[in-house]
Amino acid sequence: DDEYVRVKYSTTEGALALMWLDPAQTADGKQPFLFTQGESVFTRTWIPLQDTPGVRITYDATVRVPKPLTAVMSAESNPAVDASARGQKNDAQGENENVFHFHMSHPIPSYLIALAVGDIEFKPISARCGIWAEHTVAQGAHDELIDTERMVASAEKLFGPYRWGRYDLIILPPSFPFGGMENPCLTFATPTILAGDKSLVSLVAHELAHSWSGNLVTNATWSDFWLNEGFTVYFEQRIMEAVYGRERAVMEEQLSKAELIRDMKDLEARDQVLHPDLTGRHPDDYFSGIPYTKGALFLMRIEEVFGRARFDRFLRSWFDSHPFQSVTTADFLAFLDKGLFAQDRAAAAKIDVHAWMDEPGLPPDCPSPTSPLLAEIDREIALFVDTKDPRRLHTEGWVTQQWLHFLEGIALEGSAPQIDREQMERLDGAFHLTSSGNSEILCVWLRLAVQSGYEPADATLVSFLMRVGRRKFLEPLYRELAKTPAGLERARNIYKKARPRYHAVSSGTIDEILHWQAASSKG
Ligand code: BES
Ligand code: ZN
Repeated sequence: DDEYVRVKYSTTEGALALMWLDPAQTADGKQPFLFTQGESVFTRTWIPLQDTPGVRITYDATVRVPKPLTAVMSAESNPAVDASARGQKNDAQGENENVFHFHMSHPIPSYLIALAVGDIEFKPISARCGIWAEHTVAQGAHDELIDTERMVASAEKLFGPYRWGRYDLIILPPSFPFGGMENPCLTFATPTILAGDKSLVSLVAHELAHSWSGNLVTNATWSDFWLNEGFTVYFEQRIMEAVYGRERAVMEEQLSKAELIRDMKDLEARDQVLHPDLTGRHPDDYFSGIPYTKGALFLMRIEEVFGRARFDRFLRSWFDSHPFQSVTTADFLAFLDKGLFAQDRAAAAKIDVHAWMDEPGLPPDCPSPTSPLLAEIDREIALFVDTKDPRRLHTEGWVTQQWLHFLEGIALEGSAPQIDREQMERLDGAFHLTSSGNSEILCVWLRLAVQSGYEPADATLVSFLMRVGRRKFLEPLYRELAKTPAGLERARNIYKKARPRYHAVSSGTIDEILHWQAASSKG
């Protein structure tokens, strides 16, 4: 008694969800690559469906790709690959094709349907976790992300069982526009998290946490985006604390709040609220640290007032009672009131939920994570501002987060640019920052180089902008360049060559910063 409609269609070059890469844009350089990016509203550009997170679907897919390529999807099982050892060829039909079958039995929102195709291999980490990557990247990625199973186990202790079967990651080519994307069973990630010392793996904790907040319990509309991202940042912090200790987690929390406060200066009031009215707007226009960090700070505030034990029980019950459902902010606030606030009205009165949801800025009761390891760096910043002498600094044993805090700290005094060319040269002489292999450190350093006119970093800046397509890194660098007429011209010259290598998500943002006319890039 089921009735079926068969829709036959093909995509066009304009399908924004699809990024087709030439071999030259991949790590191995030999085969082309394809990946999709659905969130927020791009799935409609490659699959005809009801593209709203309020509607959930299961799916089956058969994917035929030219040999020697492998296809992977955001599916709970990949029977063909499972059957013949992961990463091996399966029931190849015809001489020139590899054929893959996928199945997702849990109802998911459309933005979580994802496909990647490339010359990739699989490296297992545990019985349920592993890494897909191009051949020259695979071993390094495997070693860097070796703690993934420990993260899954820690997350399960906190929020209940992992319900999606496998948890794998795929390391995409560097033009992937995001840090990570929580496609079910298969997180998509940028290679820029591979620092060599596990210092940037909080991204894995983040995408993994989405397996609960986002994929299991999903924002019903994009106005409820903080239910996905704010919850996920909070859980990411809890996973980091469980696996790497409280010191590391608090450092990252303090850095995120500082970044949010910097970002808020450029945000209109309507974009500083957790529950925005997005009528008539593209959901991605609202993208900022607000749903992420302000959302997490709200949950941290509730934890602070009610205590971790009670809050953990409450959150666990939130997930257990809404599995595979799409929920609104009103649903959550009603559940919060009944499930937690009603038990202790005096405590609840200490949290102004209305202010958190609907007012711009950070409420007066906002938590302030304070890291002793970053307080040490504050003293070093003062020392450097005072003496301008890098040899006086005590940098032995600094971890990435401490370097980031230091570099942000010397960047500005008040709001005036603080560091000049000569100091940059001394710092570079002492610490070789222009050749840093850590993308987060390099990005801040290159921003300082532009700000201070430090030319020895120019070549590195150009090669970074040509290679990396992650919007989070491109945006501050192009913004810094665009501050002066000469810098804007330089930026436009670089962008002319780099733009065809960027994903639409990134080029959309940079087009605005450089006032780029789509027409001027053609021909
Ligand atoms: N789900 C987001 C990515 C996203 C958000 C894509 C909105 C499209 C629209 C993902 O989980 C994410 O937040 N990624 C962050 C990394 C994270 C550690 C904050 C990123 O890509 O920078
Ligand atoms: Zn996220």
